[in-house]
Amino acid sequence: MTIGNREDNGKLVKVKTCGKLYIAGEYAVLISGHSAVVKNVNIYMEAKIKFSNNYKIYSDMYGYSVSLEKNEDYSLIQETVNIVNEYLYIKAIKTFPFELNIMGKMENNGKKYGIGSSGSVVILVIKAMIKLYKLKISKEEVFKLSSYILLKRGDNGSMGDLACITYESLIVYTSFDRGKVSTEIEKKSLGKIMDMDWGYSIEKLKCKEKYEFLVGWTKKPSISKDMINHVKKSINEKFLENSDRNVRELVKGIKTGNCKMIGNALDKGGKLLKNLDKSIYSNELEKLVKASDGLDIFSKSSGAGGGDCGIAVSFNKNDTEILIERWKKENIDLLYSSEL
Ligand code: PMV
Ligand code: MG
Repeated sequence: MTIGNREDNGKLVKVKTCGKLYIAGEYAVLISGHSAVVKNVNIYMEAKIKFSNNYKIYSDMYGYSVSLEKNEDYSLIQETVNIVNEYLYIKAIKTFPFELNIMGKMENNGKKYGIGSSGSVVILVIKAMIKLYKLKISKEEVFKLSSYILLKRGDNGSMGDLACITYESLIVYTSFDRGKVSTEIEKKSLGKIMDMDWGYSIEKLKCKEKYEFLVGWTKKPSISKDMINHVKKSINEKFLENSDRNVRELVKGIKTGNCKMIGNALDKGGKLLKNLDKSIYSNELEKLVKASDGLDIFSKSSGAGGGDCGIAVSFNKNDTEILIERWKKENIDLLYSSEL
């Protein structure tokens, strides 16, 4: 097809995006220039898209479809479509309506897992539209475009979730000054913002040895936005220094496959968060972590805490079985496991 010309009108295009979980550096990464380690969780959201005479957007999250006419449930998806259309316009591409189907709620019985569904859906829509128009886009551009969308909506996160979901990999992410970029967004065009140097870094990590990464789901949803607003005031220089040192240790441990370093860093990271604010370790997360006592496994809360998921890294397969049994007794589901 010639770009922007709807010759292959009926052709269906498919894309998918993963979820994510924080392993270290939570809350510190909210302050620009500080870092976090974030792991891809390969539970996917999928989209099918094709050109159509009218916009028709459906998500299994809501069970009904909309056009681009403002709808509260669909506002994140609709805004993403509008901004990607603006991006296409900058690239001198004529846009057309389409039908978009989104599947994979990243939840169970109406309870979210807390593995980054809002970040994932934004990147899903970007990838779907880019593929529909047969364009190439760099990962850096996907990250900036998705961050632009969330910043415009007043999101108070570090964008580490978007970094991880964009790169579909274990990463170490150093955050940019979101206040500064947000101020620029008010004054400048999307094109100018995309061309700016934002001052973040994203590095893909690969663990040298094969260790097991496990995710326990507490089934108690927690709202990161509220947790951030509550905990942010407790972040001080000492915490930032300790957290960064710990992230560096973890990164080193991962790169060299040093289980002692990895275990220590997970342990320390958990304690740093516990001391930062008591709301981070809910009763369920306490139980999740306690279950690894005496095993060759290290576990901690993940992300904002207060519920959602905790993570563990196991250095012993037999111990993994014991941990999963213990979690079961505490009503914690093994949501996901993979290599670290
Ligand atoms: O709970 P999650 O997975 O949304 O993680 C939040 C991690 C924080 O550092 C507390 C906030 C952020 O956006 O980095
Ligand atoms: Mg969470």
